[in-house]
Amino acid sequence: MTTVGTERLLLRPWCEADFDRLVGLYSNVEVMRFISGGVPLDRPRVEAMLDRVMGLWRERGFGPWAAIDKASGAWLGEIGLNEIPDWPEADKIEVGWELDPAWWGRGLAPEGGRAALEFGFGVHRLPRIISVTRPDNAKSRRVMEKLGMTCQGERPFRGAPAAVWYALDRETWLNSTA
Ligand SMILES: CC(C)(COP(=O)(O)OP(=O)(O)OC[C@H]1O[C@@H](n2cnc3c(N)ncnc32)[C@H](O)[C@@H]1OP(=O)(O)O)[C@@H](O)C(=O)NCCC(=O)NCCS
Repeated sequence: MTTVGTERLLLRPWCEADFDRLVGLYSNVEVMRFISGGVPLDRPRVEAMLDRVMGLWRERGFGPWAAIDKASGAWLGEIGLNEIPDWPEADKIEVGWELDPAWWGRGLAPEGGRAALEFGFGVHRLPRIISVTRPDNAKSRRVMEKLGMTCQGERPFRGAPAAVWYALDRETWLNSTA
């Protein structure tokens, strides 16, 4: 698993201690508001999620990272690439972010998201990366826009009437970094 540094973040692989931190993050009503309507994920679900993520790292060489504040060593949350196996469109690798609310509003998700795009397009040569959220998740949509992703529209997903999705092509990303 690959560790990546940005100006303020260390994006590192998962370690055992992260499990309890992730359970805490996914129990936070504010964090979960647009993910599950505020309902916490229980420990077995977080465990299953981490197992799947570790499998993604083993099989594809990428996945979400644990995000650490370089200056203080604080654990901030999760940022990075992930697979949405049941996403009904062709491209299923997404960039995503979930941070502890104490760290919101400092541009950290875009900073980590940019590193994830660089990893996906530059190192893994993915043709297209998407990002999916609920239409009313304005903060997350703003992060997608700040990363240069463009809105592809809304569609029903996992029983919800609408998920909004954004995408960025490798070509467009290459041109923007040239
Ligand atoms: C989404 C999330 C990762 C954003 O992280 P962050 O590091 O705080 O992101 P930013 O610092 O760039 O701030 C968010 C941006 O949204 C803007 N924003 C905040 N509230 C907004 C609103 N109601 N309407 C429009 N824009 C809004 C902010 O102004 C900022 O944009 P700006 O820098 O252009 O001013 C964070 O809020 C989070 O963890 N949310 C809970 C988990 C989640 O929903 N994850 C996404 C699942 S799909």
